[in-house]
Amino acid sequence: MMTLPEQIAEKLTDALRAELGKALPVDFCAPVTVSQDLRYGDYQSNVAMVLAKNARRNPRELAQALINRLADISEAEVSLAGPGFINFRVTAKEYAVRMAAMFEDERLGVPLVKHPKKLVIDFSAPNVAKPMHVGHIRSTIIGDALARIARFMGHTVITDNHIGDWGTQFGMILWGWKNLLDQQELKRRPIEALLTTYKDVNRHCKEQPALLEACKAELVRLQSGDVENLSIWKRCIELTKCGLEEIYSRLDIHFDYWLGESFYNEALQPLVEDLLARGIARESEGAICVFSDGVHAPKDDPFLVNKDGEWQPVPAIIRKADGGFLYATTDLATLDYRIREFQADSIWYVVGATQEKHFKQIFDIERMRGVTGDFRHVAFGSILGKDRRPFKTRDGETVGLQEVMDEAVRRAARVVDEKSPDMPAEEKAAVAEAVGIGAIKFAELSQNRLSDYIFDWDKMLSLTGDTAPYLQNSYVRVRAIERKINDPVFAAALSGAARIRIILTEERELHLARLLARFGEVVPATLDDCRPNLLAAYLYELARAFHSFYEACPVLRSDLSTRSSRLVLCELTSRVLRLGMGLLGIRLLERM
Ligand code: ARG
Repeated sequence: MMTLPEQIAEKLTDALRAELGKALPVDFCAPVTVSQDLRYGDYQSNVAMVLAKNARRNPRELAQALINRLADISEAEVSLAGPGFINFRVTAKEYAVRMAAMFEDERLGVPLVKHPKKLVIDFSAPNVAKPMHVGHIRSTIIGDALARIARFMGHTVITDNHIGDWGTQFGMILWGWKNLLDQQELKRRPIEALLTTYKDVNRHCKEQPALLEACKAELVRLQSGDVENLSIWKRCIELTKCGLEEIYSRLDIHFDYWLGESFYNEALQPLVEDLLARGIARESEGAICVFSDGVHAPKDDPFLVNKDGEWQPVPAIIRKADGGFLYATTDLATLDYRIREFQADSIWYVVGATQEKHFKQIFDIERMRGVTGDFRHVAFGSILGKDRRPFKTRDGETVGLQEVMDEAVRRAARVVDEKSPDMPAEEKAAVAEAVGIGAIKFAELSQNRLSDYIFDWDKMLSLTGDTAPYLQNSYVRVRAIERKINDPVFAAALSGAARIRIILTEERELHLARLLARFGEVVPATLDDCRPNLLAAYLYELARAFHSFYEACPVLRSDLSTRSSRLVLCELTSRVLRLGMGLLGIRLLERM
């Protein structure tokens, strides 16, 4: 099923071809976009203004000529506005046709991509025995939503949790494991126990700098393959993975692979040698570095920085003077592996904006090596507390995902208690879990990922506004209506035995249909620039349109044909909410 703007664009392009003939490039497609203001129509095109100059035509005159050629299109009333805009007001009849088609369509009008990609999404990626901080929370939620949407669009998606399992932190952890670790606590709460150990050693090191040397010695022993240290290291990773799996499963998030940094250890030395041999890297003060190759203008060059009006080199170090490899080296090896073994043509990294320079350098080194693809750094800003400072616990610690989830569920349980005191305890708990976790996810996904956002418990759990509870509650309401009304015509339509004529007469009815029809445009658009917030905003608008439709347009107390037509709108609303929220990774409930 084509979306409305695609369908209109096709006819507009035909008209253009008839009007301009060979002057129009073969693969040209007229742009058709949503109108910002419904007074002018549903969609518009500025194509006449774009092409007028080359065609040596007056833009308004060209627009009018196109409109004349579109005289009998069935989708919309077409009109001319301003300096040459073509406006399309979609007819109620067309929306009715679309609603009927959507009712038969499992994908609810969302087209599959024409060119499916092999896409690796790198997200979450916390570090072993280090706290999973708010940056990892954002990455985890955004990355999962993108993976779900991309899969639904027809791409082959591979999710890979590139955990930090080979860092200098292991020096401290190994020393701590041998000297401080509480084995009882480790059994009970492994992730926390490792974390506490890491923090304790860190603190001791500040007090006694000599200890740093002991930690370094442990790290060197690990790196040179010491059996005891290797086995402790393995154990740390296992324990961390178990703990993480628990968190992910509560979040309903799953990874196809867990290829952490250590997986690439063997590949690092040959990689550096290859870069040296090809002249891409060179030695500088004992380290091996990649410098700018001068292809970009200085302001776009990730290997240059402006200091006091002068451009100075910031090379990517890929091997330190002491022989150690770095984060960048691992990322180059990781990218190679994904292209070679996964046959990836696209790799998206959902990582905080603070790593912008790192990824620009990585992608640029790949360009120097002749490796190309759709490589994206899907960056995001930070989470702030209500005081607009980085979100921390009361004692200044970073906030872990586990704590945030527990707190959200606790608070959601209070809301459920108030709203549905008579619900059985077990169901209450399940509702609180879905509402609490949904609230965290929706609060994240409704933000423009690049801006910092304020973490506000009251707002995210509110039953009004753009929140998960509001949307979950809207879904419950739609479903309740459908259950209450026992309509044989509607039942027959659901089972495919009958067809319902859709009637759109009321303004709010029409508006609900208009939004439902847009679902098929919004879902693909979220992937253009990796912005799940477009989908979140859309779902909120849809839920609001549903509520105002339901206030103005009685379902139960209307005549038979209106009733079944309105029931179809209810059913489409519930399906779009279910599919749309599902693409964001948020669960819906039948009751709450
Ligand atoms: N472990 C890293 C961190 O916590 C994130 C890794 C992101 N993925 C990557 N391929 N670099 O900052």
